[in-house]
Amino acid sequence: MLQRYAHRTCVLTASTQGIGLATAARFLLEGGQVVISSRKKDQVQEKVEELETLMRNTFEAKSETAVRAFFCGNQNQNNFNVGEASDMMKEMVKKKLIIPGKVVGKVCHQANANDRLELLKFALSSFQTNKIDVLVLNAAASTHYGEFIHLPEKSIDKMFETNVKSTILFAQEAKPFLMPENEKNENNNTLLFPEYNFSPCISITSSVGAYVPCSPVGFYSASKTMLLGVTKALAENYSHYGVRVNSVCPGVTRTRLAEKLVEQVQQNNNNNSENNNKKHEKLANAAGGLNDGGFMHRVGDPREVAAGIAFLCSRDASFITGENLVIGGGGFYHL
Ligand SMILES: NC(=O)c1ccc[n+]([C@@H]2O[C@H](COP(=O)([O-])OP(=O)(O)OC[C@H]3O[C@@H](n4cnc5c(N)ncnc54)[C@H](OP(=O)(O)O)[C@@H]3O)[C@@H](O)[C@H]2O)c1
Repeated sequence: MLQRYAHRTCVLTASTQGIGLATAARFLLEGGQVVISSRKKDQVQEKVEELETLMRNTFEAKSETAVRAFFCGNQNQNNFNVGEASDMMKEMVKKKLIIPGKVVGKVCHQANANDRLELLKFALSSFQTNKIDVLVLNAAASTHYGEFIHLPEKSIDKMFETNVKSTILFAQEAKPFLMPENEKNENNNTLLFPEYNFSPCISITSSVGAYVPCSPVGFYSASKTMLLGVTKALAENYSHYGVRVNSVCPGVTRTRLAEKLVEQVQQNNNNNSENNNKKHEKLANAAGGLNDGGFMHRVGDPREVAAGIAFLCSRDASFITGENLVIGGGGFYHL
């Protein structure tokens, strides 16, 4: 595991479940100072405790599984000496060669202006810093499952407000926190090692639905299409301030939000496997769409999306802005 977020303050909306929670865990494992949030206080509290346990299990080497995962990412590797790895972990933490992440949490409804401002201020005071390095805007509402032509006006308003409008507003409001006045831009003297640059950044969660607005979630998909344009426009403007902005488009990923789509993918794949020996003869568009899990014919795990977000927000992506990363197991979503 890398340590790309050591001493970096990372604020995430919609992060007590699914993709947001997995991303928070990833930032923490990489040393980040992380603020999680969502609408429900008990959820926030519960998940802060869960993440603190994950940190203890990993960095105090209290869980064999956690130590294996941290060092080799392969829980079943046979020739891995857990005892030695645990001792090494403790020693490296003691010598500050590995920085364990820290986590706090606060209620924030992404569509509530006061909640948004309080979340940003809370991040600064919690970690006694004057700036936020990473902002992950991850909240979405999907309030209509059915034919687009029967989409109620109330649903349009709700989804537009949560998915699009609050994302734009939060990105605007975060500017003085991402790039405080008098803050020296770090990206000035490392031409030889550009990978050492860390520019503050925003990650926006769109969806493969942005490219394929499918019938049961047509407006939700269209709202995600708009986020691709929002990402590009924000990135161009924010580039004047040294802030990067990117988005990710997850394919169907195993989370509460996508329960029905996950079921659909599994059903379609079961039907297809009955006819398995003819699989390669199927029409191309039937083998690379949202409904059968793309080229890889499976749904995603939230940690796979988290890994993509953690790449885009890190120094490894120092020359990437205004782009969108599809994390969807391959598919004919776009060229
Ligand atoms: N799962 C997929 O297949 C998939 C695919 C493409 C894109 N996405 C996108 O990924 C993002 C995360 O979705 P997920 O699948 O991880 O969902 P999830 O597992 O259902 O988690 C949703 C999280 O968002 C919080 N939340 C919901 N509405 C909120 C709001 N208005 N303000 C703040 N927090 C809010 C929830 O907590 P509270 O209830 O406590 O607020 C929860 O922590 C969304 O933008 C979604 O559109 C998901």
